[in-house]
Amino acid sequence: MEIRADTQMPLRIARVLDVAEGIRSFELVQPDGTELPPFTPGSHIGVQTPGGAVRKYSLCNDPGERHRYVITVKRDPNGQGGSISMHDEAHAGDVLATSPPDNAFPLVDNARAYLFIAGGIGITPILSMIRSFAGLPAAPWKLHYLTRSPESTAFADELMRPQLRRHVHIHHDHGDPEKSFDLWPALEKPNTAHIYCCGPRPLMESVRDMTGHWSPANVHFESFNEGGGVKPDDQPFKIRLARSGLEFDVPVGKSILATLREHGCNAPSSCESGTCGTCRTTLLSGDADHRDMVLMPEELSERIMICVSRARSPELVLDL
Ligand code: FES
Repeated sequence: MEIRADTQMPLRIARVLDVAEGIRSFELVQPDGTELPPFTPGSHIGVQTPGGAVRKYSLCNDPGERHRYVITVKRDPNGQGGSISMHDEAHAGDVLATSPPDNAFPLVDNARAYLFIAGGIGITPILSMIRSFAGLPAAPWKLHYLTRSPESTAFADELMRPQLRRHVHIHHDHGDPEKSFDLWPALEKPNTAHIYCCGPRPLMESVRDMTGHWSPANVHFESFNEGGGVKPDDQPFKIRLARSGLEFDVPVGKSILATLREHGCNAPSSCESGTCGTCRTTLLSGDADHRDMVLMPEELSERIMICVSRARSPELVLDL
């Protein structure tokens, strides 16, 4: 993700608040105190961390608020440094470059019911959705909020307030996979509810596997794993664009989409994390290493989400 110079918004950190163990909220405001561009539930902004990396963070405050954005960041000691920089180097009063709100996880506003599934810091976009219901006769909703322990559960006090607690189920697994919550009873019978899931990859994959019999239009995922992340056995590979005959090398650590852009080829994208479906591309040959959350099993041999997926074969041929 990049912050484009022509749309960049410098925002001042007005307040920093520890909301759980290793999890910190940052309230961002216009330096001159004016209103911010509006946002919808599920939106994110890009933030250039003090260390220089650009990261995508969900806005977790009520979208009705016009003078602040609130982002919440979990310090990840094994990450690539963005969250560590935010925790260790971003202080109240500092000004950070940001990009305006964008939404790849929009809340369907006429759903008959909502089922929210949040794993850990994945609560952030869902919190803005729940907060947007305040004072409104929202459709029935339920939140399963899965975290490691009470200490690592951000916003538990708010979610356990009398108005919300009947909708909210919080489960702690204490790091023991044997104690993970069984979502199957909630997902076994498809219905007209819209499911919103955000959290660690294994949780989202498990929800995807358990919702194969739901309408795909009713199941929504949000991931912050831009470009699909790097896996230890990733290899470079080639892509060939069948229509132009152009060939490019895709190195480790760079997505097909980023490689195309680098060479001046435009391809539509939105989430850039394999969850929205915008970059669906026809795969003409080659063995794809699918890393998205949107393709159905029957599409895997002929389609690829170029923002996150890679190759198991030395070359992929794309219908571009
Ligand atoms: Fe959203 Fe690729 S841009 S799935």
